[in-house]
Amino acid sequence: MRVTVVGSGFVGATAAMRIVQKGLADDVVLIDIVEGLPQGLALDMRESAPIEGFQPAILGTNDYADTAGSDVVVITAGLPRQPGMSRMDLLGKNAGIMRSVVASAAERSPGAILIVVTNPLDEMTYLAAEVSGFDKTKVMGMAGVLDSARLRYFIAERLGATPSDVEAMTLGSHGEAMVPLPRHATVAGKPLAELVDEATLESLYQRTRDGGAEIVGLLKKGSAYYAPSASIAQMVNAIAGDTKEVLPVCAWCTGQYGISDVYVGVPARLGGRGVEEVVELELNGAELAALRTAADGIRAKCADLSALPDGGPDA
Ligand code: NAI
Ligand code: 2OP
Repeated sequence: MRVTVVGSGFVGATAAMRIVQKGLADDVVLIDIVEGLPQGLALDMRESAPIEGFQPAILGTNDYADTAGSDVVVITAGLPRQPGMSRMDLLGKNAGIMRSVVASAAERSPGAILIVVTNPLDEMTYLAAEVSGFDKTKVMGMAGVLDSARLRYFIAERLGATPSDVEAMTLGSHGEAMVPLPRHATVAGKPLAELVDEATLESLYQRTRDGGAEIVGLLKKGSAYYAPSASIAQMVNAIAGDTKEVLPVCAWCTGQYGISDVYVGVPARLGGRGVEEVVELELNGAELAALRTAADGIRAKCADLSALPDGGPDA
């Protein structure tokens, strides 16, 4: 099992470190456009192996030939948000980067499963599928695991609960059109709606929608990477370990929830074949309507993407 991480910035490097430390792959390849960066980071990680006790199976490179035959390719290359920027402000620039890195990675690893992380997430996932030409079950985006982890943490913090005792899931887009599912959230098995009032629920959801911006505002340059990299590692584990876990991921819908021909955040069963099933939870009318609105918004943005002459300035 070979996992390549494209982009050796904060998210890519931290994800590669988690994957190699947890032993999720036989080998990890970390690649970037900046010479020396992935090589230096990979060497630094290998030097921590005697202390942390993991197999130092990580290579840093600028050459896609070294990524050949990857089973999973995680794409984090691209610009992160800065204060005052929305994820959508990154569309043009990151579309160019996405086109070039997906073409290079897909050529060397035609059988790989792609996990897209670069923002704006939903649109970049669509673009990666288009550029690679891979079956859409083999291309997915990471956002729902992160948004759900944030929500679970905020609930735990509010109620003084153990974070891992909190179950909650968000669907929809990675942004304002995030769809929380209050009826499916529990704390140590108790329904969340019985533990907090409506106003508290809404404030927890809004903090989750703004979760990325809250971190950007504090860091002042760049965006979150500890929770994003943990989310990537969970998805890699599900695919590499063929666990069949159901996780919220940005997946291609073919009629589920009455939604077709768009990438949107939905519960998906992940395994060795990628998205093995889009799982249809029982949603009420309001939840379904919110999910369809999110899907319509993403579809419209993907049309904007096709209108970019060459996918942006870096293409
Ligand atoms: P960063 O700026 O630390 O790293 C980006 C890396 O991409 C840099 O090392 C840069 O040299 C590299 N890069 C740029 N062009 C490249 C190319 N053509 N080929 C290879 N590498 C290239 O940014 P960070 O914080 O790692 O974030 C990366 C992306 O992930 C951003 O777009 C960010 O918005 C997104 N993100 C998405 C999340 C999600 O939930 N989906 C969560 C966190 C970040
Ligand atoms: C986040 O949610 C910026 O999408 C990134 O942290």
